[in-house]
Amino acid sequence: MSITKIQFSGKKIENDTSPLIVFVVGISAKKKPIGDAAIKKSLGKLSRLGDFSGKKDETLLFYPPAHESTSLRAERVLLCGIGAIENKEDKQVLAERLRSAGGSIAKQAGKVKSSKISIVVPGFLGEPPHTMLKPLLEGVLLGDYRFSAYKKEDKQNPPFPGIGQLTLYQVKKTAAVSKAIAEARNGADSACQARSMANEPGNIWIPQKFADFAEELAGQYGFTCAVLDKKQIKQAGMGGIIAVNQGSTTPPKLVILDYRPESFKKTILIVGKGITFDSGGISIKPAAGMHEMKYDMCGGAAVLSTMIAVGREKPKLRVVCIVPTTDNMSGGGAIKPGDVITHYNGVTGEILNTDAEGRLILADALAYGIEQYEPDGVIDLATLTGAVIIGLGHHRAGLMSNHDGWAETVLRAGEKTGERLWRLPLGEEYSKQIESDVADIKNIGGKGAGTITAAAYLQNFVGDTPWVHLDIAGTAWEYTEKTYIPKGPSGIGVRLLLEIIRDWKNTLP
Ligand code: BES
Ligand code: ZN
Ligand code: ZN
Repeated sequence: MSITKIQFSGKKIENDTSPLIVFVVGISAKKKPIGDAAIKKSLGKLSRLGDFSGKKDETLLFYPPAHESTSLRAERVLLCGIGAIENKEDKQVLAERLRSAGGSIAKQAGKVKSSKISIVVPGFLGEPPHTMLKPLLEGVLLGDYRFSAYKKEDKQNPPFPGIGQLTLYQVKKTAAVSKAIAEARNGADSACQARSMANEPGNIWIPQKFADFAEELAGQYGFTCAVLDKKQIKQAGMGGIIAVNQGSTTPPKLVILDYRPESFKKTILIVGKGITFDSGGISIKPAAGMHEMKYDMCGGAAVLSTMIAVGREKPKLRVVCIVPTTDNMSGGGAIKPGDVITHYNGVTGEILNTDAEGRLILADALAYGIEQYEPDGVIDLATLTGAVIIGLGHHRAGLMSNHDGWAETVLRAGEKTGERLWRLPLGEEYSKQIESDVADIKNIGGKGAGTITAAAYLQNFVGDTPWVHLDIAGTAWEYTEKTYIPKGPSGIGVRLLLEIIRDWKNTLP
């Protein structure tokens, strides 16, 4: 993602001579494609021919001189469908369609290698331009992501560097428009950064990298950064992080970033699972697909990358971000099934499966963060269980919470951002599943409800503080096919957290 310049044009659209001009097209109440006046004739003809109807994610590329129905002068014209707009009262549906159109725009720009594009902001939807520009731009920026750090450069055929310049038509640079552009950019930049962290291989993105990144952000934005090393983690009594790290030769870290505005009323704590590689440990995973476990740090990547946008936007609430990070290996010192550990808050855990490691490191981080920072609301993000994929597939992340109001807030933010969630219950029956014969709790809860019993483990470390746990194992990569989410890590969670942070007055408990 590389759009460096976004500019506004008040010129006639017909005078645009860019390599690619884009129009968003809907379907009218009369079931006809509807769009800007500049393409009215073209749409009539295409509709007559049956070549383009304006369906969601339908695209059509044409070359103006060859098309007598238009007086456009751009080299290429791209039409992007968003479907029927009669239910436009549902703003979230419209926003997601526009995000999707944005993704299609980025894909097409990549196909024809057009680094300069123009977009005509749709005026026919009866919505103010900024409300449409934000999701549309988010889609373009998120869709224009690529990761090629480890590919040899082909000098003969250099890879497309991404869209560099974007010209907007049919929109004026008002304060609301500038804010929409900034928010779209900040959200997409942060999400793309989270993707890049996840794309790094496990031998490169080690716990120290999380620490380095946090320190860099602290320098850039004036956050307070604290990194606890192995010795300090041990001294603090964080037996979960130490236990998971025991089989590794790479030291763990507890990375903390604190954004503390001058006068704040509320504090949010965001915690992300930072397992830089999950081999399963002694309860080793099968070989097939094990390489994907380099993505087991996507929760940590999401919370830390969110701090980029926080630093840029400077909201008036305190945001504390914690990433407990280590790999999960099976070296000689590794924890074994049957071992008992003591967490930061004194709760003891019996390890029955060393592959259920995420909950062990999160337990310490949650207990520590809540004690130290007394947050009003906590959200943790973790690629925690394969079971969430069985339950919800790759379409929604699982949400579990000890607080209905806080859960509702996060669910709503999910709908708004297109990062959709589904709530699963907690309760005594599930907590009973993790009762241990030898310790306070055990780290697996038997066959059923694996996603919930993992959350039940975490519940022992949050007390009454409003807390939401998001299991992103099914959505952090291999996410539902979306135009604006390329293959690989999705960056999920970042825009969701930002939505809650930006609207903190209405969202924090
Ligand atoms: N990191 C995995 C969960 C996971 C699985 C994420 C698939 C993404 C895709 C986690 O640490 C794990 O291994 N969980 C176990 C728990 C079980 C042993 C109770 C699982 O889900 O199998
Ligand atoms: Zn595991
Ligand atoms: Zn894991």
